[in-house]
Amino acid sequence: MSEKFDCVVIGAGPGGYVCAIRCAQLGLKTACVEKRETLGGTCLNIGCIPSKALLSSSEKFEEAGHHFEHIGIETKPKLNLKKMMAFKDEVVEANTKGIEFLFKKNKVTHLKGAGRIIAAGKVAVDGKEYEADNIIIATGSDVISLPGIEIDEKKIVSSTGALALPEVPKSMIVIGGGVIGLELGTVWRRLGAQVTVIEYLDQILPGMDGEVRKEAQKIFKKQGIDFKTGAKVTSAKAGSKGVDLTLEPAAGGAEEKLSADIVLMAVGRKPYVQGLGLEAVGVKLDERGRVEVDEFFETSVEGIYAIGDVIKGPMLAHKAEDEGVVLAEMLAGQSGHIDYDCIPGVVYTWPEVANVGKTEEQLKDEGIAYTSGKFPFMANGRARAMGCTEGFVKILACAKTDRVLGAHMIGPNVGDLIQEVVSVMEFQGTAEDIARTCHAHPTLTEAVKEAALAVHKRPIHI
Ligand code: NAI
Repeated sequence: MSEKFDCVVIGAGPGGYVCAIRCAQLGLKTACVEKRETLGGTCLNIGCIPSKALLSSSEKFEEAGHHFEHIGIETKPKLNLKKMMAFKDEVVEANTKGIEFLFKKNKVTHLKGAGRIIAAGKVAVDGKEYEADNIIIATGSDVISLPGIEIDEKKIVSSTGALALPEVPKSMIVIGGGVIGLELGTVWRRLGAQVTVIEYLDQILPGMDGEVRKEAQKIFKKQGIDFKTGAKVTSAKAGSKGVDLTLEPAAGGAEEKLSADIVLMAVGRKPYVQGLGLEAVGVKLDERGRVEVDEFFETSVEGIYAIGDVIKGPMLAHKAEDEGVVLAEMLAGQSGHIDYDCIPGVVYTWPEVANVGKTEEQLKDEGIAYTSGKFPFMANGRARAMGCTEGFVKILACAKTDRVLGAHMIGPNVGDLIQEVVSVMEFQGTAEDIARTCHAHPTLTEAVKEAALAVHKRPIHI
């Protein structure tokens, strides 16, 4: 007889492993299926964690090479790429092993192999069958390419290949000015590559606040990244010397030719549903190939649920984690809740870019009356002391109630600063709440307080 579980989670990324741990914490007999050798999914193995290791290391390299002298430290750094990559691999290993430990601690059964749903309540893992009252699809997403362009992970790479280049390319073309393109483009620029970002739209970072997008592009350009916006790549061919590309204006027009040692394809990701047997069991996909779910994360088949990148919403690890927790709690008979207006987004370049809630453009489109307060890091004492004065904090609040509706930041450590606003928004707080909260001096957080004060036209330091 096949082993029976209360919950079988397919996929051990941030959505799946967190869901499995929470299910187990709540007393549900839980298994998590993973086909990769190590746990943690894209995020821990080939995404967030290794990219942050390389971003952090390359940032230090750049600081030492270009900014130390200004503050009185004379040194000439020499890059040892092999060691930098080895450190990144160590970080990944420690993190993935950490999930193994957490599975053991919480008594989550780790089923190694590819999971396939053979019927409602039945999962096969590499041919072996298991029964489950609840099946949770948490298989994440995969890179997409452009028509006719093949990612070989050597010369034309996805984020996976870009995290493991054996040497610094002289030139790199990044297709897509989104999060991956800017983070990994930044890593290789800092290490010495000439980086050009080609973006289809008129501005980089689609979906973010217009002012932040403009400021980000200005700063990254000053750092040495070239941008070709409003341009689409029509072909890319890898040869022995590098990659030849053709592009044309997004609106149509004369073709242009470019070449580079390495091309990074970063035009988005698609839900990963291959080999899961969804069609056979009747799990419906939406028009964009995502698993369709209701507000309880249940698919079109009773007892089969889905969370994370494979369903609608931003493809972010923390969104997947929160969905995993909420679903586990609902399966255990409790209630759960996610406010999708309160999910932060962060781009881990330097300066960082962070946002939560509505942008000014969205508020205008939706006809919502709002007030805006902005504070530049140039006027923040701590930012000056750090030598990091680029960027600003902007807070948007409802004109009638003062409730915070969004925050958009570019500047030092804004990936951490955004969290204050996220918490205030979760509690439906106001700009006045932030403005009247004591913020330690001298900290970068004072820029958030001042932006909240600026919503009411009473900032102190500008
Ligand atoms: P993205 O959706 O952020 O950006 C893709 C960019 O490619 C867009 O700006 C788009 O306009 C552009 N594009 C599309 N077709 C093009 C073409 N033919 N020529 C030129 N440009 C074109 O996708 P990205 O950066 O690949 O990231 C994938 C997912 O991973 C995103 O959902 C992202 O949020 C997530 N991610 C999040 C990170 C974070 O939170 N720090 C880090 C890395 C990835």
